[in-house]
Amino acid sequence: MALEQRPVGKLDRAVIFLGPPGSGKGTQAIVLAGKYGAPHLSTGDMLREHVAKGTPLGLKAKPIMEHGELVPDSLVLKMVAERIERPDCSHGFVFDGFPRTVTQAKYLGELLRQHGLKPPMVIHMVIGNALLLRRLTGRRTCKVGGEIYNIYDRPPKVEGICDNDGGALFQRPDDREEVISQRLQAYDKQTAPLVNYYRRLGLLHEIDASKSVQEVEQGIDQVVAGLRGAR
Ligand code: AP5
Repeated sequence: MALEQRPVGKLDRAVIFLGPPGSGKGTQAIVLAGKYGAPHLSTGDMLREHVAKGTPLGLKAKPIMEHGELVPDSLVLKMVAERIERPDCSHGFVFDGFPRTVTQAKYLGELLRQHGLKPPMVIHMVIGNALLLRRLTGRRTCKVGGEIYNIYDRPPKVEGICDNDGGALFQRPDDREEVISQRLQAYDKQTAPLVNYYRRLGLLHEIDASKSVQEVEQGIDQVVAGLRGAR
C-alpha cells in the first residue's frame, strides 16, 4: 500500500496494466491507484487471499497457481464481477493482472458497458525476458500492506522488514525459477494476444518497463493525464 497522500484527481475509467510477470505492474498500479484515490484490483492478490483463507475458490486455485498456470476464466470472472459491484468502483479503478485472456477482456468490456464506464485505458509494460528473472527472484512483499521490494534493486532499509509499516517481508512461492518459466510461457500463450486485441481497439499505450521505477512512473503519469476527460 502506498503511503497516505492527497488524490490528484479522479479516474474516469478503468486502467489496465498488461505485461509479463515481473514487468512492474503491481509496483506501478499501487502508485497510480494511490495518486487518484482509486481501488487497486490485483487478481493475483485476491486469489492469494482466497488461498490463504482456504475458501472453495482458494482450494481450487492453489495447485494451479503453484504450477504457474492461469486460474480458469469461470472462477476469475465471477470474483472480478463481484468486486467491481462495490461502490468504490463507481468511477474508475486500476486493474493489475486482469484481464489475462481474450475471454476475460471481452467479458470486462461488457461489464464496463453495463456499469456505464468508458472504454479502459490499457498500459502495456514492454520489457524483454532477460530482466524478469532478477526482478522476480529478488522480489519480497510486505505481509501487512503489500508494499513491493527487491533485494537487488529496491531493498528495504532493514532486511526482511517493510519500511512503511514494519510488516514482515515474504517471498511468493511462485517466484521459484522453475515456476517462473511456466508463468512466462502462460503469458506468451494466453495473455500476449491481448496486446493486439487492445491495439486494434485503439486502447493500448506502450511504456518501456525496463527503465527505472521513477522513469516508468513518469511515462504512465503522462499517458493517464493526457487521457483523463477524453472519450
Ligand atoms: P499475479 O500476482 O498477477 O502475478 P504476475 O502477473 O505473474 O505478475 P507479478 O505480480 O509477478 O509481477 P508484476 O508485473 O506485478 O511486477 P512487480 O511490480 O511485483 O498472478 C499470480 C498468479 O495468479 C498467476 O500466475 C495465475 O495463476 C493467477 N492469476 C492472477 N490473475 C489471474 C487472471 N486474471 N486470470 C487467471 N489467473 C490469474 O515487480 C516485480 C519485481 O521487480 C519487484 O521486486 C519490484 O520491486 C521490481 N521492479 C518493479 N519495477 C521495476 C523497475 N522499473 N526497475 C527495477 N525493478 C523493478
